[in-house]
Amino acid sequence: MMNNVHISPLDNEVFLKLIQSYEPDQIIAIVDENTVGFLDYIHLITDINIDAIQLPSGEQHKNIQSLAGIWSDLTQHNFRRNGLIINLGGGVITDLGGFAAATYKRGVDFINIPTTLLSMVDAAIGGKTGIDFLDFKNQIGVIKDAEAVFCDVAYFDSLPTEELLSGFAEVIKHGLIADEKYWRYCIGTPYAELKWSKVVKGSIDIKGGIVSRDPEEKGERKLLNFGHTIGHAIESLRLEQKPILHGFGVAAGMIMEAHISMQKGLLAEEAFKKIEEKISALFPKVSILKTEIPALLDIMKNDKKNTSQEINFTLLEEIGKGVFNQTASKVEISKSLEYYIG
Ligand SMILES: NC(=O)c1ccc[n+]([C@@H]2O[C@H](COP(=O)([O-])OP(=O)(O)OC[C@H]3O[C@@H](n4cnc5c(N)ncnc54)[C@H](O)[C@@H]3O)[C@@H](O)[C@H]2O)c1
Ligand SMILES: [Zn+2]
Repeated sequence: MMNNVHISPLDNEVFLKLIQSYEPDQIIAIVDENTVGFLDYIHLITDINIDAIQLPSGEQHKNIQSLAGIWSDLTQHNFRRNGLIINLGGGVITDLGGFAAATYKRGVDFINIPTTLLSMVDAAIGGKTGIDFLDFKNQIGVIKDAEAVFCDVAYFDSLPTEELLSGFAEVIKHGLIADEKYWRYCIGTPYAELKWSKVVKGSIDIKGGIVSRDPEEKGERKLLNFGHTIGHAIESLRLEQKPILHGFGVAAGMIMEAHISMQKGLLAEEAFKKIEEKISALFPKVSILKTEIPALLDIMKNDKKNTSQEINFTLLEEIGKGVFNQTASKVEISKSLEYYIG
């Protein structure tokens, strides 16, 4: 487990001690309209009345205007260098609030209280913060770790089911790239019977281990991109007309990137079939047209991480063993897309 991450309800000693070590009027929470209500619980267990900066929810607000709004509110509030920012929300809030904290007065302390599955197992841990800029996701940002991250799966009670499922794609990814036993628990247990605290812990252990060994993504951290090369391309393509949830794109991307792994002789056919079967049983099929393949290839090609004619991928050698710095040709990618389209 990453040593700054705690999986438990908030009324634990670490949280209470931490909160009490800051001046009460120098603690500010950043929330959106769906998470502002969770502040009541903090007020209940701490007696400290924490002021909040509330943003409208949604990825379209993870931008420079919201960031400037936060800087401005902090300034008007006379928020000082020794204060604490509490990011209470999903990945949009932890990315934006983390970046605001990392930049305000050259950096103030912040903690993350992620309230979605995706943010607990991914966005809120590992220190990446940032905003979208022009048409590019996460174009501007810095790496700065939270003082602490508190994960309480009780927040899932109010989370829309498709948001929970979207986060589950990252969970499956963690199993596929690094831990066969964890994958078997996650796909072998009926979804409704999963023990979410166990799921969150397993994923954080995997991502945390990878990130601690390679914080700057020079090597191993690239494993976490599995499913994302094709997944992102589909997400981008659908952005204008009919946006899809990130995890749904990643789920489709994992099937296709597992298919590429099989084409390259890295992954056994039996393992591929199993991955396809399990992911298709959980996730809705993303509709893609054959005629959209060239556009998808173009999006992947334009990704700045690619240099040659080949496109970079993280692939699988086995269930539980990813391999980074791989490439695939347009022909291989097209074949996987055609296979998925059926
Ligand atoms: N920094 C990283 O390493 C990293 C990694 C992965 C994703 N991300 C970022 O995370 C963001 C996606 O995060 P997300 O999926 O959490 O999206 P999100 O923050 O938009 O949350 C999804 C929706 O659920 C609502 N919500 C949040 N918690 C709730 C709860 N407990 N009950 C009811 N509603 C709730 C939110 O208001 C929002 O409408 C993206 O911007 C992505 O780029 C960052
Ligand atoms: Zn992702």
